[in-house]
Amino acid sequence: MENKALEALMTRRSIRQYKKEQIKDEELKAVLDAGSYAPNGMGKQDSWIVAVQNKNIIDQLIRMNAEVLGVNSNPYYDAPTIVLVFGSKPDSWANTYYDGALVLGNMMNAAHALGLGSCWINREIQMFDTPEGKTLMKNFGLPDGLMGIGSIALGYPAGKAPEPKPRKKDYYRVIK
Ligand SMILES: Cc1cc2nc3c(=O)[nH]c(=O)nc-3n(C[C@H](O)[C@H](O)[C@H](O)COP(=O)(O)O)c2cc1C
Repeated sequence: MENKALEALMTRRSIRQYKKEQIKDEELKAVLDAGSYAPNGMGKQDSWIVAVQNKNIIDQLIRMNAEVLGVNSNPYYDAPTIVLVFGSKPDSWANTYYDGALVLGNMMNAAHALGLGSCWINREIQMFDTPEGKTLMKNFGLPDGLMGIGSIALGYPAGKAPEPKPRKKDYYRVIK
């Protein structure tokens, strides 16, 4: 079936090389708006999105993430923008991971539809469960009691997107 939205969903790939140039403010806003319109449990909108373009904070996030991963490289692949997603802790909101994942998914698909590149980057759960992470969340102006869910690296893609892996044969079935 031919459809622009479907085509964008199927051609999005995780991008791991970015141009240095920062994305435009209106592009970032469109991505964040798309995230904020993700479906969410009980319509509670219990996710918080923080887009970071400040060099010092990006350097801090790179260090914190690399420490969890145990590497010296940049887990955000030198992307000029990092978008973090936070949510309530699962003991107070059982849908927190689902909600956050859909926000991240909406943002990645919107980014691709606009010609931007993105990649889900993990380890925010551990990064923001430390005194340093908690201070950072306070500095972001977030309410108390949240946890990191995940993030995306965001920027203009450098080079060609990777080919998708073939889909496994029994990915879905239709029962009539
Ligand atoms: C929950 C989750 C965590 C991921 N964590 C990382 C990560 O930390 N670093 C990374 O480079 N890619 C990460 N990815 C991207 C996956 O590797 C990627 O989506 C997968 O290989 C399929 O490739 P595609 O996105 O190009 O279709 C993550 C994806 C998901 C959904």
